[in-house]
Amino acid sequence: MGYGTREETRAVAGWTSVSGKRVIMTGATSGIGLAAAEALAARGARIAIVARSEAKASDVVVRIEAADGIGTAVDVLLGDLSSQASVRHLAAEVLERYPRVDVLVNNAGAVNTTRRLTEDGIELTWAVNHLAPFLLTTLLLDRLKESAQPVWSPRAPTPTGAHASGSTI
Ligand SMILES: NC(=O)c1ccc[n+]([C@@H]2O[C@H](COP(=O)([O-])OP(=O)(O)OC[C@H]3O[C@@H](n4cnc5c(N)ncnc54)[C@H](OP(=O)(O)O)[C@@H]3O)[C@@H](O)[C@H]2O)c1
Repeated sequence: MGYGTREETRAVAGWTSVSGKRVIMTGATSGIGLAAAEALAARGARIAIVARSEAKASDVVVRIEAADGIGTAVDVLLGDLSSQASVRHLAAEVLERYPRVDVLVNNAGAVNTTRRLTEDGIELTWAVNHLAPFLLTTLLLDRLKESAQPVWSPRAPTPTGAHASGSTI
């Protein structure tokens, strides 16, 4: 996959801080999401993808699992983000299965050229691209916050803002 400029490619290739992190990703069955899931898996992240088709998920799981070279298992969570009941069910499953959630990637989206309403009576593109990420993030926010660990770094900036002058501790 391409990451843009040479500098960006170098930065992403050296990005190992996701190793061991639990990542929940929507829209990983194709496009940008699939490429991102493979890149994250290659760097040691533990991925759970959200998919609305079990068959499609099974196909891409093989690809994502192959990305780290050792076949670390990728979990599949079934959910249709156009349905608020499904989003709530999905969030409940995440909270039950994962005591920690380090990263939530709200990537799923679609652009519909004709007006369609969801089962909740909401325009489909608005429901999937905007309301679903908002609802899912809100439902998982406490778990995301709990999972955030202070990161110690020998090069962290000092609280006094000395980093502004180039100093590090
Ligand atoms: N590509 C671009 O140029 C571009 C530009 C701006 C923004 N974006 C945004 O970036 C994201 C990824 O784009 P992309 O081009 O990689 O899109 P894509 O290849 O069409 O992939 C969209 C993903 O979203 C999933 N999805 C769609 N509706 C869903 C639903 N109701 N429930 C669950 N999953 C659903 C799809 O699942 P299925 O496999 O089940 O269909 C697929 O995994 C999207 O949010 C898009 O709006 C893309």
